[in-house]
Amino acid sequence: MSERNGHRIVGPGLSKEEVPFEGSIRPRWLNEYIGQKKNKEQLKIYIDAALKRGEALDHILLAGPPGLGKTTLATIISNEMGANIKITSGPAISKQGDLASILTNLQPGDILFIDEIHRINRNVEEVLYPAMEDYALDLMVGKGTMAQSLRLDLSPFTLIGATTRAGMLSSPLRDRFGVLMSLQLYDSVDLAQIVSRSASLLGVEMDPDSAHEIGLRSRGTPRVANRLLRRIRDYAQVKGDGRITLELTRKALEMLEVDRLGLDKNDEKIIRILASHFGGGPVGIDTMAASANMEAGTIEEVIEPYLLQIGFLVRTARGRMLTTKAYDHYGLPRPDHIGKPGDREKPPEEEGQVEMDILEEE
Ligand code: ADE
Repeated sequence: MSERNGHRIVGPGLSKEEVPFEGSIRPRWLNEYIGQKKNKEQLKIYIDAALKRGEALDHILLAGPPGLGKTTLATIISNEMGANIKITSGPAISKQGDLASILTNLQPGDILFIDEIHRINRNVEEVLYPAMEDYALDLMVGKGTMAQSLRLDLSPFTLIGATTRAGMLSSPLRDRFGVLMSLQLYDSVDLAQIVSRSASLLGVEMDPDSAHEIGLRSRGTPRVANRLLRRIRDYAQVKGDGRITLELTRKALEMLEVDRLGLDKNDEKIIRILASHFGGGPVGIDTMAASANMEAGTIEEVIEPYLLQIGFLVRTARGRMLTTKAYDHYGLPRPDHIGKPGDREKPPEEEGQVEMDILEEE
């Protein structure tokens, strides 16, 4: 499992062993890509327009929680544009020279994909500004009083940046992207369709009820859905005749300790701590992280988005708060201020503004 997942079956990180598997089922064209309807519609227009004009596509920033298909989307864009793609990541580019060498090797129309672009070194980032704005590279030659700036032309190219933390991007970098695209967690219907497609590519027989069940338990994340599919396929092979049925799916997920909403022990731990130590909140992310002995970044990027999506947690100006749904799911007694079973949920606005759009984070 990746560092980001710990040992979580429902973690969104990509592990090394999963790379060939993901590669074999990854959609290659926009019409094979399921979900993200609005984003897909917009992308199709930008791609068709750029192709008609014979120009490079505008630079695109893809933001959203891990495991939603940002790299897949970048690869699809390069296929649709008939362009080459060079894939790298923010932390992998340690020196200005590394980036300069990547940029000077790009052909007209090529796509440069930088994953985790929020982790790029600020010094390196400055090389991107003229590259993105003018397709140019500003080099300093000579030293001291003899120092001179030399401008080199680059081929017109498209930068696709991916980030799980759009709020951590500097504004000069963010402002240079023509398209800011926020990927949302998938709904269970889209996830069911994604695992059905994957099962058929893998030659595994699976009934629609099982696909639906996996869709409900995948935390809005295709990578999790496809991982659960692989584990359930193993289970069905050993405990059944290889066909995936609803009964086997449920038993396999019980064995994996993934509950009916896709929650695991980590989610439960956070929720129980919020309820028992903090009266349900509001509580700040760092306090929460320290109490749960987890990293604040992991909570914010990995655990929290799904708890927000299913309405177990709300973000208020004063911190995170548990909702009645979370209390009820674990059979925890509700504190007086959030009412008794059957009462209507208080709108979160009463606690301050709820902030959920990742592009507006921080
Ligand atoms: N595999 C991973 N993400 C996918 C998506 N959005 N559509 C189809 N297959 C996928």
